[in-house]
Amino acid sequence: MKKIKFQVVTLFPELIQSYLKDALLSKAITSGVLCVDVTDLRPFSDTKYKSVDDTVFGGGDGMLFKYKPLASALNSVHIFKKGNSDKKVVYLSPQGKPWNSSLAKEWSKSEEIILVCGRYAGVDQRFIHHFVDEEVSIGDYVLSGGELGALVMIESISRFIPGVLGDQASAAIDSFEDGLLEAPQFTKPQSEDGFTVPAVLVSGNHQKISEWQKKCAILTTLKKRPDLLARRKDINWPELQDFYKKMNPEEKTLLGLDGLLDTENK
Ligand code: ADE
Repeated sequence: MKKIKFQVVTLFPELIQSYLKDALLSKAITSGVLCVDVTDLRPFSDTKYKSVDDTVFGGGDGMLFKYKPLASALNSVHIFKKGNSDKKVVYLSPQGKPWNSSLAKEWSKSEEIILVCGRYAGVDQRFIHHFVDEEVSIGDYVLSGGELGALVMIESISRFIPGVLGDQASAAIDSFEDGLLEAPQFTKPQSEDGFTVPAVLVSGNHQKISEWQKKCAILTTLKKRPDLLARRKDINWPELQDFYKKMNPEEKTLLGLDGLLDTENK
C-alpha cells in the first residue's frame, strides 16, 4: 500500500491540526495511507522567553525566524541529508516555485515531505542554504505564514495517493489532470428553472458523453484559462470549431461559452 508522510514544522500547530480533522484527510490518516506529524517550533527556542525570531540585520521591517530553533526542530524530525529525493525539505514562501497540480502529482510519489512554515518576514537565509531542498509558493501574494501553503500542499498531494479519494477515478477527471479544466457538470433534476441538462449527458452513450466532456473541457479552458492551452499541439481546432458551431445557443449560454469561437479565423 502506497503511504506518504508529512512532517510540518510550525509555530502554530493547532492551525494544521484543526484542518486535518476535515473528513477526507482524517479518513486517510485513520486508514494509514496518510501520516501528518506536526512539530511545534516554540520548544526549540534557545532564549529564556521562548522567542524564535529576531530583527533583521541591515534594517528592514518585521522579524525573522532565527536559524537555531529551525535547525534544532528540523534535526529532531529528520536525519539530515539534503538532496535525498525521497525526503524533501520544503520551505513555504512567496519566493518559491509556483505550486500546481503536476507538481502535486509528481511529489505524491515521495515517501516523506517535511514542510517548514515561516511567519513574519521570513527565515534566516542560512537555514534555507543549509537545509531546504525546495521553496514553494502557493501564489503571487504574501500570506502571514506558510501554514495555509502547507495545508494546500498536503491536500493536493494526498488526492493523488490511492485510497485517499473514495473514488480514485475522480482524481483523474479533476480539473488540471490532463492540463485542462473540467467540463461543466450537472445533477438532478434534469430541468430546473428553465434550464435543461445537455441531452448527450442523459443519453447513456458513454463514448459520446466522454467525447462531449473532453471537447467542453477544452472550450471551458479556452474561455477561462487560455494560458493553459498556449503550448498545446494536440488540439484539433477545426473539429472543435465544428463542435462549437453545432451546439445549440441555449447550451452555449448555459455552459458560459457564448461568443467563444464565433469568428471564422479563431
Ligand atoms: N508564505 C507567505 N506567503 C506565501 C505564499 N504565497 N506561498 C507559500 N508560503 C507563503
